[in-house]
Amino acid sequence: MNFDAQAHRQSSLQNWEEAASGWARRQEMMREFGAPVSHWMLDAVFPAPGQRVLELAAGLGETGMLAAELVAPMGGVVVSDQAEAMLAGARARAAELGLSNIEFQVLDAEWIDLPVASVDAVLCRWGYMLMADPPVALAETRRVLRPGGRVALAVWDAIEHNPWARLGSLELIERGLIAPPEEGAQHQPGPFALGNTQRVSELLEQAGFAETRVQTLELVRCHESFDQLWDSTIDLSRVFHDAVLARPEEEIAEIKASLTERFAPYTAADGSLSIPGRTLVASASA
Ligand SMILES: C[S@@+](CC[C@H](N)C(=O)[O-])C[C@H]1O[C@@H](n2cnc3c(N)ncnc32)[C@H](O)[C@@H]1O
Repeated sequence: MNFDAQAHRQSSLQNWEEAASGWARRQEMMREFGAPVSHWMLDAVFPAPGQRVLELAAGLGETGMLAAELVAPMGGVVVSDQAEAMLAGARARAAELGLSNIEFQVLDAEWIDLPVASVDAVLCRWGYMLMADPPVALAETRRVLRPGGRVALAVWDAIEHNPWARLGSLELIERGLIAPPEEGAQHQPGPFALGNTQRVSELLEQAGFAETRVQTLELVRCHESFDQLWDSTIDLSRVFHDAVLARPEEEIAEIKASLTERFAPYTAADGSLSIPGRTLVASASA
């Protein structure tokens, strides 16, 4: 089947506008889960006081806000996302932290509305793989970086290394609630579309970046109980939310019971869960 990039862009924007309230509810959990990733990314671009940093596909701006503290007082961060509702959450978080050196901008990472060579560093955690055209987004990233400026990014590794997502997906596929991945569709946008170190490295090099470095990072997603995992999955995954909540109550209860079993290997005696995850992290110089 042909991939319709424009249709993807429209539905992605709508889905993320709708997902923003769920992401705001799960902000603390995602902060903890993603902290090692953000710290790796910041170490890779080493933002210095006075610099200007751009965060793309920022969501609630967790990584950009850490950078804002490093570049203060004279430097600043542009926290950007395609979805205005995500940026509303980011604004609220910046106010909570008392950060005043952040600008918020609705930006599509495939058409970055900023001048050439206007930023020192770009950060993008779990964004590029969702875009219709990652090579275009990376070329745009390089265009807005000053020569020698640095990019750091994270994309999920392949789904088999991420049982927190794979088990829910399997359940929905086996019940016929979502379609199995199409033959040859592995490069279509989605959370696991760039889960290959060599591909990430090639994409960066093809966009003209140098000193490319790509590695894996092991993560653990922790929940107090299965119910907390369930509720957070509904809040964070639009696919899971739409597929599950459209079903009758009895079937939702069956899905829940079946997933409790699937996650049993990651569940401790007290009911808490520690589920492994693996992301790729990468950095390069413009
Ligand atoms: C998985 S969330 C990650 C949010 C945040 N970076 C984090 O790590 O918590 C993906 C974000 O990418 C944004 N996004 C997807 N495609 C985009 C595009 N083409 N331009 C800008 N933002 C995009 C979505 O709106 C969403 O907020």
